[in-house]
Amino acid sequence: MTYEKVCALTDVPADGALGVEVGDTPVALVRAGGEVFALNDICSHAEVSLSEGEVEGGTIECWLHGSCFDLRTGKPTNPPATQPVATYRVKVEDGDVYVSLGSDD
Ligand code: FES
Repeated sequence: MTYEKVCALTDVPADGALGVEVGDTPVALVRAGGEVFALNDICSHAEVSLSEGEVEGGTIECWLHGSCFDLRTGKPTNPPATQPVATYRVKVEDGDVYVSLGSDD
């Protein structure tokens, strides 16, 4: 399991999101309820950045058509999206955020 340092925790807005690249993968870092989550930043419905959406109630809402994605599972909670987005492991150490793109085993 390889973690990559992506940014400082203070770069991620509280109850908000930050779009970053981990290698070639676009990742939305989301801070909610004192935790940090990482999801693939491309909506599963059309190719727009989830990190530009609103964070609310444990989800991030796609700004284009309004599907919300569960921050823990990546699953959409309402249409039109039907497919989940990938989620990634996150750790915070010494004020920095690390993401692992490895499979969740
Ligand atoms: S592009 Fe995200 S719900 Fe349509």
